[in-house]
Amino acid sequence: MTNVCLLTARRGTLRFGQTVPKGVALMTATPTPTAAGRYPAGGRAFPHRDLLGIGHLETHEIMFLLDEAEQWVALNRQPTKHTDLLSGLTIINAFFENSTRTLLSFEIAGKRLGADVVNMHAAQSSVKKGETLIDTAATLNAMRADALVIRHASPGAVRVLADKVDCPVLNAGDGQHEHPTQALLDALALRHALKEAGRNEFAEGFWGLTVTICGDILHSRVARSNILSLTALGAEVRVCAPPALMPAGIEAMGVKPFHDFDAALDGADVAMMLRLQNERMSGQYVPSPREYRHLYGLTAKRLARARPGALVMHPGPMNRGVEIDSDVADLAGRSIITRQVEMGVAIRMACLEVLTRRARGVPGWKPGEWV
Ligand code: CP
Repeated sequence: MTNVCLLTARRGTLRFGQTVPKGVALMTATPTPTAAGRYPAGGRAFPHRDLLGIGHLETHEIMFLLDEAEQWVALNRQPTKHTDLLSGLTIINAFFENSTRTLLSFEIAGKRLGADVVNMHAAQSSVKKGETLIDTAATLNAMRADALVIRHASPGAVRVLADKVDCPVLNAGDGQHEHPTQALLDALALRHALKEAGRNEFAEGFWGLTVTICGDILHSRVARSNILSLTALGAEVRVCAPPALMPAGIEAMGVKPFHDFDAALDGADVAMMLRLQNERMSGQYVPSPREYRHLYGLTAKRLARARPGALVMHPGPMNRGVEIDSDVADLAGRSIITRQVEMGVAIRMACLEVLTRRARGVPGWKPGEWV
């Protein structure tokens, strides 16, 4: 069984690898909190140039981005969805792997903020002529991009690129490592859906909420980022997969592993379904899609094992009739799959706006003001 990569320690909870002593990765400074008391003021609220993963964020930094996204949720529900905040900035979306939701939502997010947005598709780029990732990074940097959004099939490739450029870099998914904006949009969608369901106890975090993530945990960057985010926000996370698709030592991430989906769903508040990541598999991990559905597919009958009113999530793309049945995926009042997509635009607007504050000279965010 493949082991998973080393992630950081946070709040004293050891992650994969367990090499970081307790407390080392806790936030180093505790400056003046905002009036809300949720996070520090100014640039200390998010003291990172890049968004490469959830693993290196503090809980209050996650909360900060979720709260920042609320204004964009509201704007996106207006007939006119535009601001000029990022006017004059250039954002390049460099996708070396296929995408529908992430690419489109980053493009829409940048345009709604007033930036000039350019998409670089790897299939039409000089990468196909043998250009290296480093040279591609140098080329994009020379064009003086103000933010780079990168998706790549190799874990760690986005960090390699980030080290070579001068502007903020946002990880739009790197292999089976992380997909941070997916986890953020999932948390935001969950927060909205729980509020609408009258579960106001979850407005400040997910303490007391049970989330079951089921599917190809081994190959899923969505699972990894969501485990990091949901546990940071207080949720009890259960992960369920066939033995071959469960990472060794996943308990170290603070989750409960299951191989029996019925048991994993028992009393859960949320069922988050993941597809089989066939593009990352070498060899056959499941006997057949039909058998996989029988054991791990979310059917209406199986959903009844969860808490009454339990929510259904899926990051997409879905394989209907394999990991999720159509009647569950489209279940009104329970499935929040389209809401996840809606929140994706708002979260990406928040990330782009926050990460460009230093370059735009936003008061409190200029380097000398907070470092
Ligand atoms: N959820 C997600 O990342 O979807 P795309 O691959 O379509 O971007």
